Amino acid sequence: MLNMVLAEATFKDIRNYIYDNSGIFISDSKKYLIENRLSRIIQEKKLQSFEDYLKLIKFSPNGNELTRLFDAVTTNETYFFREPQQLTVFAEEILSKLLEKKKGPNKLKIWSAACSSGEEPYTLSMILMEKRLSSDKFEIHASDLSEGVLSSAKRGVYNSYSVRNIPEAYMKNYFATSGQSYNLSDSVKKTVKFMKVNLIDNKCMSSLRGMDIIFCRNVLIYFDVKAKQKVVSNLYDSLNPGGYLFIGQSESLHNITRALRPCVINKVIMYQKV
Ligand SMILES: C[S@@+](CC[C@H](N)C(=O)[O-])C[C@H]1O[C@@H](n2cnc3c(N)ncnc32)[C@H](O)[C@@H]1O
Repeated sequence: MLNMVLAEATFKDIRNYIYDNSGIFISDSKKYLIENRLSRIIQEKKLQSFEDYLKLIKFSPNGNELTRLFDAVTTNETYFFREPQQLTVFAEEILSKLLEKKKGPNKLKIWSAACSSGEEPYTLSMILMEKRLSSDKFEIHASDLSEGVLSSAKRGVYNSYSVRNIPEAYMKNYFATSGQSYNLSDSVKKTVKFMKVNLIDNKCMSSLRGMDIIFCRNVLIYFDVKAKQKVVSNLYDSLNPGGYLFIGQSESLHNITRALRPCVINKVIMYQKV
């Protein structure tokens, strides 16, 4: 096994490369994480150094290596019915308000931005289905930067960790168990459209417009202020007037934007485009 050292200058080059391409900012204290995670990839690829690896990702023609790099530096942790207080406000307060305004063929458009392996958009879909909202009345879009998580989202097969918070009635209605796996029913899977979207890529982001509700939870924490401002401004442009943005419960838009108005319902904070 090679004993590779990540030189300070190379660490900074790799960090800048990641930042420029994803908005993810890696602080000095995370150098060990980069060193550990990337040395595994480097050994597997039989490269000699971190410098060789940097060359590979910069000149990799198909972008697969870049995807693998993003996968190595982000946390994809997620699970069904995460942050349930927000989901209750979404289901009991926001939905009916927005649906009232929808006339004729106009569908309610929801976007789970940074959806990881799909638990968040599928949770939203199950909530709408339990409310007996017909699938021709809504669209759910879901996106992530990582192709790895998107393909597992499309498979819709989960482990016990992911499903641990799902209420029993939902479990019964929408999942089939097979050994240690929990298979999501096709009726839910077909309501969500997955796509690869980089939140800091203006061009990519402009393909998603006219959203009524955006969930962009537990991803802004990876970005510095500048990248957060860029992402939030893109999300703002994607929202319809009157639409809502939910971010993670532990996240805040303080000093990031004044364009979105914070609203509080039952101690849950969300942001509205007025
Ligand atoms: C912790 S997960 C959050 C999943 C879900 N929203 C939740 O709250 O449970 C963060 C996700 O953000 C994605 N991500 C990180 N940077 C991104 C970017 N620039 N564009 C899109 N997705 C990104 C990661 O790939 C990861 O799947």
